[in-house]
Amino acid sequence: MRLKRTHLCGTVNKSYIGQEVVFSGWVDRWRDHGGVVFIDLRDRTGIVQVVFDPSATNIPTASTLRQEFVISARGSVRSRPDGMTNSSLPTGEIEVLVCELELLSKAHTLPYSLHDDSPSQGETDESLRLAHRYLELRRPNLQKNLRIRHEFLRAAREFYFENGFWEIETPILYKSTPEGARDYLVPSRVHPGHFYALPQSPQTLKQLCMIGGLDRYVQIARCFRDEDLRADRQPEFTQVDVEMSFVDQNDVMKLHEGLMKRVLRAVHNVDVTTPFRRMRYDEAMRDYGSDKPDTRISLKLIELSPEAQRCSFQVYKELVEKGGILKALCFEEKEPISRSELDGLIKKVAPFGAKGISWVRIKKPGDWQSPQAKFFDDKLKSEIEAKLPYQSGAMVFLVCGPDSVVNNALSALRLEYGAKLGYKNSERFEFLWVTDFPLLEFNEEDGRFYAAHHPFTRPHPEDLDIFMKSGGKPELKEVRACAYDLVLNGFEIGGGSLRIYDSEVQSRMFEVLGISKEEAEQRFGFFIRALQYGTPPHGGIALGVDRIAMILVGSEAIRDVIAFPKTQKATDLMAEAPSPVNDKQLEELSIRLTPKK
Ligand code: AMO
Repeated sequence: MRLKRTHLCGTVNKSYIGQEVVFSGWVDRWRDHGGVVFIDLRDRTGIVQVVFDPSATNIPTASTLRQEFVISARGSVRSRPDGMTNSSLPTGEIEVLVCELELLSKAHTLPYSLHDDSPSQGETDESLRLAHRYLELRRPNLQKNLRIRHEFLRAAREFYFENGFWEIETPILYKSTPEGARDYLVPSRVHPGHFYALPQSPQTLKQLCMIGGLDRYVQIARCFRDEDLRADRQPEFTQVDVEMSFVDQNDVMKLHEGLMKRVLRAVHNVDVTTPFRRMRYDEAMRDYGSDKPDTRISLKLIELSPEAQRCSFQVYKELVEKGGILKALCFEEKEPISRSELDGLIKKVAPFGAKGISWVRIKKPGDWQSPQAKFFDDKLKSEIEAKLPYQSGAMVFLVCGPDSVVNNALSALRLEYGAKLGYKNSERFEFLWVTDFPLLEFNEEDGRFYAAHHPFTRPHPEDLDIFMKSGGKPELKEVRACAYDLVLNGFEIGGGSLRIYDSEVQSRMFEVLGISKEEAEQRFGFFIRALQYGTPPHGGIALGVDRIAMILVGSEAIRDVIAFPKTQKATDLMAEAPSPVNDKQLEELSIRLTPKK
């Protein structure tokens, strides 16, 4: 490297006119206008126009430059001629007349053009891009996303350090940590037949830090979960992981309101109002059918189960008698919804297990248009209308069945129609705490309870007696947890809880979860013992870094904020991971492969 960079491409403007500068970067575009070569030179700060004019200095190599060649150029800053300025570029009023060029590296023709910003066309196109992720990283958009993610993490780190947290690293080669997903396992060479598990989160470790007296822990932690992937899920992802001693729920929540306020100020210069809204889990499910409602949408669901029992529609009556519910989503029908759209609703709710969906168009009070209108008498109609937010010019969608089916189906329609019909204020960042989650979830298929958050979550003090003594399923189902989720614009961006700090309560938890004494000893013996040596009351939270970054950059895909993301099938197309290993490696690990049936 002969020329030493003095300035970054995107930072030079009119105030530099007359100065000598050296830029280094990639040839973004080049044009040859009758021997005068114009180059858009790019680095991560932006683009600057450099000019090779043979009438000023003859640089013969200039005409051989091509896209994505890496060069350094020395020259002087001058204004662009009249009519040649570009107001959309920060450097659009100037250019650099080059007097010295250094070609640092040539580039093959790219497998696709980086200037094609159209959304990916199908799988192959997306795969091609993922296989060349280092080229994608050159795109200004992706660079902007990664910069925002960096600014978020930087603001977060500063915030925690100011508040007395220590950054502590915990092991990656570890033991199974129960967060409800499948583990990624790593075989041990030294101990044949034994495996490490990559942590699904550092949950037990951060609690052990509290038992160890470290008081306030934070880690930007990588977590690994082998679960079905979605647009907002990756098999390895990052958490801002936090644990605090001698705190109650309010302390954790208040601190994290301060954190989010700081982050939005740092990243978007936006002032968010604190305290954040709080909602109990049962309210969220009742009004929104979701434990992570997008409260930017004003529409709410309305329960009509008692009315369903009094109508003459057998389907509703039977479902509600069997313990199901009937709920409605009602909105003003600004533009008439076509019959084919209404007929197509069933396809939208079927994936959630709904067997049907009804619609009612209320033209004016008592005047219902619906295939089911005949099943409701006038009195019932007016009682139902009284519960709805609109009584004239309204459309009502009705779903009946088991509560999870009804809630999932209608909350999806609420999101779709709320956004489509202008009930959503998209400009806002709407934070929401959801609290008082159930401690346990009963799985009908396995006939056993699972921890709704994780098995270290403390039961609500008002429900502790029932938890410790009850043998009954209905009672245990009602036990609440000291657990809270942070929701932003309909995404769960964080979750945490106060923890059990009494080994008896912890052992009872394993018992309720159907984990035998032997299994509890084998999986968590070290942890239960640790609880017996003096444990401070403690609690914490983990924030999903990738999800928060995704919302901060305004994207709907988590891979847009990850430098090297994995595909929906958990593969890395660039390095081709996972990949087969050779026989010698397998032998060293005492592993023999059997063909998959
Ligand atoms: P939880 O499992 O709720 O809690 O995870 C915390 C947050 O991490 C994010 N998240 C994910 N992001 C991307 N891809 C995934 N596969 C993924 N899974 C989770 C979410 C979620 O809110 N140990 C507890 C925290 C605690 O109790 O302190 C835990 O991991 O934004």
